[in-house]
Amino acid sequence: MARFVLKDSFYKKAKQEGFRARSAYKLQEIQDRFHLIRKDDRVLDLGCAPGSWLQLLSQMVGGQGQVIGIDILPTLSLTAGNITTIEADIRKTDISEVLPGYAIDGFNVVTCDIAPNLSGVREVDDARIEELFEAVLQIVEAALKPGGSFIIKSFFTNVQKGITNALQERFVKVSTYKPAASRSVSSEVYFICQGKRGTELHSCI
Ligand SMILES: C[S@@+](CC[C@H](N)C(=O)[O-])C[C@H]1O[C@@H](n2cnc3c(N)ncnc32)[C@H](O)[C@@H]1O
Repeated sequence: MARFVLKDSFYKKAKQEGFRARSAYKLQEIQDRFHLIRKDDRVLDLGCAPGSWLQLLSQMVGGQGQVIGIDILPTLSLTAGNITTIEADIRKTDISEVLPGYAIDGFNVVTCDIAPNLSGVREVDDARIEELFEAVLQIVEAALKPGGSFIIKSFFTNVQKGITNALQERFVKVSTYKPAASRSVSSEVYFICQGKRGTELHSCI
């Protein structure tokens, strides 16, 4: 059973098309539906390893665009010249310190496909999701341009309402979307946030 679930049609397609993970097709579906990433954009990808979103983002933004990925694990290097990867834990990271030499607040899009280690104990998992979300939100506030877009993976949990509220305060439009490439057994869902608001004060979750 486990073998069947792991090697589904998206897994095989990713192998054939040279993507490092089947997750590439989730981002492709999001892009096909919401058209958030444009040529020449600067994109920050949080939780980027093994790198299939980086591969796809690199194609989407083209040679004049830039894609920077951050992961707690090393990301095997990719050949495209518009990709840079950084090894860091985003919960313990001051974004201005890990992006030396870059315009920190100049990203058009931030993506986040991080899956926290889930224990199966609801209170523990909610706390982990919340901690991660708050760290990501801080980075988004510092790095994303006003008007920019943000894609974040989340899970159906008790803290969902707080996450939704925090996103709605910061973005003009917030949608949830479950791509076909996301396994139906998984409770993951993506928040698609469009139009980052200006610099007024916000509460956190
Ligand atoms: C589902 S994978 C991302 C797959 C990626 N989108 C792709 O297409 O290849 C989630 C990643 O989040 C990373 N991650 C988890 N916690 C993190 C943290 N605190 N800081 C940075 N990266 C983290 C994991 O190491 C893992 O590589």
